[in-house]
Amino acid sequence: MSQATNQSWGGRFSEPTDAFVARFTASVSFDQRLAGQDIQGSIAHATMLARVGVLSDEERDSIIDGLTEIQGEIERGEFEWSVPLEDVHMNIEARLTQKIGITGKKLHTGRSRNDQVATDIRLFMRDAIDSIDAELMRLREGMIGLAEREADTIMPGFTHLQTAQPVTFGHHLLAWQEMLARDHERLLDTRKRVNVMPLGAAALAGTTYPIDRHVTAELLGFSRPAENSLDAVSDRDFAIEFASFSSILLMHLSRMSEELVLWTSAQFDFIDLPDRFCTGSSIMPQKKNPDVPELVRGKTGRVYGHLMSLLTLMKSQPLAYNKDNQEDKEPLFDTVDTVLDCLKAFADMVPAIEPKKESMFEAARRGFSTATDLADYLVRRGVAFRDAHEIVGQSVAFGLKEKKDLSEMTLEELQQFSDTIEADVFEVLTLEGSVAARNHIGGTAPDQVRAAASRALEALKAHREAP
Ligand code: ARG
Repeated sequence: MSQATNQSWGGRFSEPTDAFVARFTASVSFDQRLAGQDIQGSIAHATMLARVGVLSDEERDSIIDGLTEIQGEIERGEFEWSVPLEDVHMNIEARLTQKIGITGKKLHTGRSRNDQVATDIRLFMRDAIDSIDAELMRLREGMIGLAEREADTIMPGFTHLQTAQPVTFGHHLLAWQEMLARDHERLLDTRKRVNVMPLGAAALAGTTYPIDRHVTAELLGFSRPAENSLDAVSDRDFAIEFASFSSILLMHLSRMSEELVLWTSAQFDFIDLPDRFCTGSSIMPQKKNPDVPELVRGKTGRVYGHLMSLLTLMKSQPLAYNKDNQEDKEPLFDTVDTVLDCLKAFADMVPAIEPKKESMFEAARRGFSTATDLADYLVRRGVAFRDAHEIVGQSVAFGLKEKKDLSEMTLEELQQFSDTIEADVFEVLTLEGSVAARNHIGGTAPDQVRAAASRALEALKAHREAP
């Protein structure tokens, strides 16, 4: 039927669709991915139509049996997708009619492809969100576990990528996990607005059949039918929201990736990544490249791109459905695939990070990272903070000249800059003393890190057990 006009709407046409136009307007090459959701939606629709007496029970059963067989054909790769049939919806409907005859043509009663496709995408998004939820949970759990194990591991904390103050590696990891916890909240919040049912809106204005949208919504697990038919078939803001969640998540993963890349370099030498997450160079035999984090960092770009596509796709569209919306699928599918892959990569990789504790400790010791602790020590002994700042600045200048960290100087050397300094100063100049002193909620002290990790695990557990 390649030259024929599409049977589903050909009635008012006097010439066949141009072959190029048929190919240009078809979406079946990519929307066949929605086949499972399309069949699920159709089964619920037919069930509801029988419940309200629009279809007989026999017709409903015949439709459901036919659709179930088609599902099997698709899963086994036997289904023949046809471009002239335009999209997933008409491909499945045509096959149904081929199988069960005239009853197949009754399935579309009280429905339009406009509410059908909007329903399919929302079902697809809901499944995708649930898979992403599970993967985020796995990643966060692994990250918190590593943070707990590394609660005492000291590393330099940075501002401007310059050594600032010592922190614990566990504290750094829990900073990452806080980012992910917020992303997770955004995901679950998006799910609430995804899980609303367009079906029943029909083309745009609703339908004259005595449908019961609450029945269909319940059968499909939606929280409620969409309130307004014009809005239900047209807006894709839920997809934009999902892409924006994804962009923020990938932004966070790209920051973590960047740190992993830096830390595996010889210049930092803070961690090792197991070989299975790295690749070699075809020319330089010594190389072990952190490809996985680099690729996650790179994939951030395409997800930002999809967010821009979807925002621009929706911009200025008049109510209600417009064909523009067919363009929502490819960016959405790729966003889902990319997010799931990146989360999987991270969830597998993070628990396998091997910190090089001595090297981290050495780096923290070298960078005058306890300078603020010395200033605080002087302030506790009555020196004004600005004066203390000046005294420590002179001590650091001396250390730079003599190539000595503050804790390596003798008491006499330190006393050149202030006679307020006494022997107990060395308690605050050690890295262990410095981190242990930041002992309040949100601080880097090992005890605080352990407490924060257990709170984070509790929160995850509560989410997992939530209904
Ligand atoms: N393939 C279309 C889409 O993805 C389905 C809806 C078509 N509706 C229409 N009135 N042409 O949006």
